Amino acid sequence: MLLFTLVLGVLLYQKCIPDSSGTCTEVTATCDTQSNQCIASTAAVFQGSSKLSEEKAKECGVSEGCVNRSLNLGIDRTVLETTCCSTNLCNKNYPAVSSNPHPNGKKCYFCDEQSCNNTLNCGDDENYCVKATVSDGGQTITLKGCASKSMCLDQSHSLVKGLTKSSEMKISCCQGDFCNSASSASPALLISLVPLIYSFLL
Ligand SMILES: *[C@@H]1O[C@H](CO)[C@@H](O)[C@H](O)[C@H]1NC(C)=O
Ligand SMILES: *[C@@H]1O[C@H](CO)[C@@H](O)[C@H](O)[C@H]1NC(C)=O
Repeated sequence: MLLFTLVLGVLLYQKCIPDSSGTCTEVTATCDTQSNQCIASTAAVFQGSSKLSEEKAKECGVSEGCVNRSLNLGIDRTVLETTCCSTNLCNKNYPAVSSNPHPNGKKCYFCDEQSCNNTLNCGDDENYCVKATVSDGGQTITLKGCASKSMCLDQSHSLVKGLTKSSEMKISCCQGDFCNSASSASPALLISLVPLIYSFLL
């Protein structure tokens, strides 16, 4: 009887954690006792409106993991969308990420190979300007762009890490058009995209 009650109390979810090739096999699993959200997430990198890569995952987690994040660096845009629900096996469908964000009127600087004062029109919930410096093999790269609030609040900087694999980075966000200017902005080197998106779902 006790066992029966315990089984009724658990939350079942669809589990699909991509392996290094980016694919996964879906299974049914039970959430651990601390987790009460069935999560389906889609992460994608866009260049303009073309999708460079996409990765999907299903897991069980806590409500803090239910976030949509967006980081637009002008040269590319990285988006993570999650949907959460809390009934058995409810994380059936993956969220669809849009390749065409709606301009929201905010403007920030972005860096290309020539300069760091190019104008970027932010979209959707990218209400902040962001400036990041990453150190990679002795080189310091400056990245600028638009970001969502949840991206700015993310202490693990997972979206930027997914793009650069750099261990050392400094990220600051600000509100207000072109607030991510810098006195000593050096042009960014175009960073090569690492198609290992799954690292920023964690
Ligand atoms: C993220 O965006 C999707 C699609 O726009 C939406 O359905 C979902 O509720 C959002 N998730 C959160 C946590 O806001
Ligand atoms: C951007 O920077 C270039 C070179 O640093 C400068 O010539 C140009 O006036 C700047 N443009 C704006 C809009 O600030």
